[in-house]
Amino acid sequence: MDVISVIRTKRDRGALTDEQIDWVIDAYTRGAVADEQMSALAMAILLNGMDRREIARWTAAMIASGERMDFSPASGITRPTADKHSTGGVGDKITLPLAPLVAACGAAVPQLSGRGLGHTGGTLDKLESIPGWRAALSNEEMLSVLGSTGAVICAAGDGLAPADKKLYALRDVTGTVEAIPLIASSIMSKKIAEGTGSLVLDVKVGTGAFMKTLEDARELAATMVGLGTDHGVRTVALLTDMSTPLGLTAGNALEVRESVEVLAGGGPADVVELTLALAREMLDAAGLPDTDPARALADGSAMDVWRRMISAQGGDPDAPLPTAREQHVVTAPATGVLTRLDAYGIGVAAWRLGAGRARKEDPVQSGAGIELHAKPGARVTAGQPLLTLHTDTPERFPYGLEALTGAYDIEPDGTAFTARGIVRE
Ligand code: URA
Repeated sequence: MDVISVIRTKRDRGALTDEQIDWVIDAYTRGAVADEQMSALAMAILLNGMDRREIARWTAAMIASGERMDFSPASGITRPTADKHSTGGVGDKITLPLAPLVAACGAAVPQLSGRGLGHTGGTLDKLESIPGWRAALSNEEMLSVLGSTGAVICAAGDGLAPADKKLYALRDVTGTVEAIPLIASSIMSKKIAEGTGSLVLDVKVGTGAFMKTLEDARELAATMVGLGTDHGVRTVALLTDMSTPLGLTAGNALEVRESVEVLAGGGPADVVELTLALAREMLDAAGLPDTDPARALADGSAMDVWRRMISAQGGDPDAPLPTAREQHVVTAPATGVLTRLDAYGIGVAAWRLGAGRARKEDPVQSGAGIELHAKPGARVTAGQPLLTLHTDTPERFPYGLEALTGAYDIEPDGTAFTARGIVRE
């Protein structure tokens, strides 16, 4: 087998055989297929797609590239396990309040998370803005944090779906993220290898999501639910809006601050609403349908789990969060109603300000990002602050501002169109 013939098959719109898929995933994981060759194959998959058999085999090969974890009672974890995964959005900090919340309600939440991908933020990049917090845990450490606090958020260990680890970083910098087969196999290989008993998928749809249309989001949801079910994981999917950012912040430390506000019983209404909706689905899937997550937010028990979980991973939950050295305020150019605030424009601007990376080895800035002072539907007055841009490197401001060109509309008597709402697939 040689990689050129595999690339040519997909380039010429053919279906890859099981043997081709098994070989190329294994060879890439071992380093026998180079990044530039895999990136050509990923682009061919993005352009020409894969059928259900190919996606199932590609996912199985990614799972087989590494080890599988076990959170059954034999591992010492006696609570039912529940996990959630978002397909990626702007301002999507939901995992941060959600994992401790669901743990406070009685489930065990082994949350393997990722870094920023394209214009979307990554949970690990966000949490790393907490002084001392460590994303990389050994399997023993992960089990120990999960057992003692009920929740753990960490990077997939080197041994778990290593093919995805390499491919995920490659796709981030080669324009090959937005492909249903690659997204579905990336997410589900990690989740199946992780060994969770149940999984809730938050499939984002809208300008700031990788899936721009409801039809594509539905196909991605159905593909992932099918993969999970075939591997014995109770899997459900919600379709949720990503046409405008979630909450009032996009950026690493900015989003941690907002998540802590939610855990303290406050925070923006849309973040609270989605956190509770996903928590209810996770508890239901874990066989704990009678617990009320709203109560665990109100009585402080979710915050207690958060503090213990952050401390158990070396972080200081009381340490001040980093702030960017420079700020630039964008004011409303007119008086009226903010009818649109585009998630993609905000995501690209935050990324360019330093919240995301341009090359896979780049560091991210903890303090970089964007604060929103109004959401669609709000009345604004000419000259009032609309957005605050944060960065340590002010030479990035022009690039951030360029991404915001055309990203919002203010109309004198407008009403905002929002596709808010949560659809269960
Ligand atoms: N999250 C993942 O883990 N992989 C993707 O491809 C997209 C979102």
